[in-house]
Amino acid sequence: MKSDFYHTPVLLAEVMEYLNVVTDGLYVDCTVGGGGHSRAILENGGRVVGIDRDKDAIAYALKYCKDFTDRFKTEISKFSNIISVVSKYTDLVDGVLMDLGVSSKMIDDPSRGFSYRSDGPLLMSMGGGVQTAFDVVNHEDTQELARIFRDYGEERKAGKIARAVVEARSSQPIRTTVQLADIIELAVGPRMPQKSKARVFQALRIHVNNELGELKDGLNGALGVLRPGGRLCVITYHSIEDRAVKYFMKNHADPCECPPGFPECTCGLKPDLKLVTRKAIKPTVREIESNPRSRSALLRVAEKVVVP
Ligand SMILES: C[S@@+](CC[C@H](N)C(=O)[O-])C[C@H]1O[C@@H](n2cnc3c(N)ncnc32)[C@H](O)[C@@H]1O
Repeated sequence: MKSDFYHTPVLLAEVMEYLNVVTDGLYVDCTVGGGGHSRAILENGGRVVGIDRDKDAIAYALKYCKDFTDRFKTEISKFSNIISVVSKYTDLVDGVLMDLGVSSKMIDDPSRGFSYRSDGPLLMSMGGGVQTAFDVVNHEDTQELARIFRDYGEERKAGKIARAVVEARSSQPIRTTVQLADIIELAVGPRMPQKSKARVFQALRIHVNNELGELKDGLNGALGVLRPGGRLCVITYHSIEDRAVKYFMKNHADPCECPPGFPECTCGLKPDLKLVTRKAIKPTVREIESNPRSRSALLRVAEKVVVP
């Protein structure tokens, strides 16, 4: 069975370099997906606790990593629950990986409703939630829709698209991805409609799955379970999540709140992370050529330090 049938792992060599996998070390893969990164950790002698909110991903990864079942434990869960998942096995772990967003399998399956390129029901749920894109598109008011498109998609014509959605649904519910994509195209005009479609679909996906809330809780939880010297590796795919990761790492690496130029720190806040990558790591041209979906990936790495 080949992993890339499900998903090609992104920045694999770089993740393996920065995660510092040691034999029998315990690593949490918060986003198992097709199991590509998990398998590489297992092949390098590590043990993995794998989390994914999508039950299909866990089922696939278990098959893909079947040679390592004694060292690969999985949980269908959200990574915001990392502390309680890890507590079933140990107190502290040697590394945590988050490879955010959706898998290729999810995007390519029209029945999951993630893509505007193929027709399917407006779902966009990764798993473990009750809300769907159908609920949001058909029930939120114009103002809230515009906020979602702007805040989670950085879409400049958010208001115009929100009004078009509310107008369209007044005659009948918007049920499919292509129906929604056509409404967006009519609202923004024929110049560059793909970008607006991509931004609105990204916004709905982030909202439906509470991705930013998950990220905040997941990062804090990861910090709580990392042993001193353990590394946190996070791969993001768009600027909103990269900004959240960048500032999380920066604020924990330099939490001091004293005014600049103060002779001595009086706030008492000490770093609990050290930045390993000052700038985010990007895929090589070669990786982007062989896997175009990696083109927007950015990897940031930080290391837990002992608070004196
Ligand atoms: C980019 S894919 C990971 C691919 C994986 N690294 C591989 O090598 O195949 C992202 C995965 O994270 C999962 N995911 C996203 N947000 C999650 C969350 N908050 N909790 C748990 N899993 C999540 C998705 O269901 C998806 O399977």
